Amino acid sequence: MKKFRFLFVCLLSLVGISPSVHAEDSDKPETVVYLPEPQKNIGVPLMKALNDRKTTREFSVRKINDQDLSNLLWAAVGINRPNGKLTIPTARDARDLSVYIIKQGGAYRYNAEDNTLELVNPAALIYMAAKQGFVKDADALLVYVSNNENQDYRAMHAGSAYQNVGLYAASAGMSNVVLGMIDRDMLHKELHLTEKDFVVIGQALGWPKSK
Ligand SMILES: Cc1cc2nc3c(=O)[nH]c(=O)nc-3n(C[C@H](O)[C@H](O)[C@H](O)COP(=O)(O)O)c2cc1C
Repeated sequence: MKKFRFLFVCLLSLVGISPSVHAEDSDKPETVVYLPEPQKNIGVPLMKALNDRKTTREFSVRKINDQDLSNLLWAAVGINRPNGKLTIPTARDARDLSVYIIKQGGAYRYNAEDNTLELVNPAALIYMAAKQGFVKDADALLVYVSNNENQDYRAMHAGSAYQNVGLYAASAGMSNVVLGMIDRDMLHKELHLTEKDFVVIGQALGWPKSK
C-alpha cells in the first residue's frame, strides 16, 4: 500500500503536480515532505550519548530542520538493513510501531520505506495534545502508535524507539521529554487512526534554551 502511495506521488510529480516542496518553504502544509537522507556517520560516541541522555522541559524558539527530523525519525523506527528490519527490535518481528510527528505546520506520518512525511492533519495538534504547559514551547511532538494486540510488546517497542530518539537528542544537543501525559483520545481521532491502533506515548522535541 505504501508503495502505491509513493508511486502515486511520483506520478503526480511527473505530470507537473507537485504535492510537496520543502517543509519550510511555505506556510501551507505540504501533502508529502521528502526528507533528506539520514546521516548515519555523525554523532558523539555511544557512551557519551548515554552519559548525556536526560529529560529537558525547556525549549528555545529554534526550529528542528528537515535533516535533524530525518535523523531522529530514522533513529526511532528507520530501516537499517536490506531485509527491511528496523533500528529497534520488535517481538516476532512485528514491526508494528508507527511514528507521527506533530509540528506547527500539521501532523504527519513517517514513512520509513521512502523517507517521507505524509500529512494526516493540517492542524497544530500539539496544543490540543499537551497536558503540560512546557510542551507548547517544543517544536515537535512525536507520537508513537502501535497496532500490536499485546500491550506489553507495544509499550516495549515504543520504549525502544523513544530511547533511540533520546540518545540521538543527547548526541545532537537537542531537548527531549517522553510524555505519558497526552490526550490519547483526541490524538486517536485527529490522526485518523484505525480501531486497532493504540496511541502508546509521546515525546516532545526541540532545541534547548541557551544558558
Ligand atoms: C514512560 C514515561 C512517561 C513519562 N511521562 C512524562 C510526562 O508525561 N511528563 C513529563 O514531564 N515527563 C515524563 N517523563 C519523563 C520522566 O519524568 C523522566 O524521565 C524522569 O523524571 C527521569 O529524568 P531523566 O529522564 O532526566 O533521567 C516520562 C518518562 C517515561 C519513561
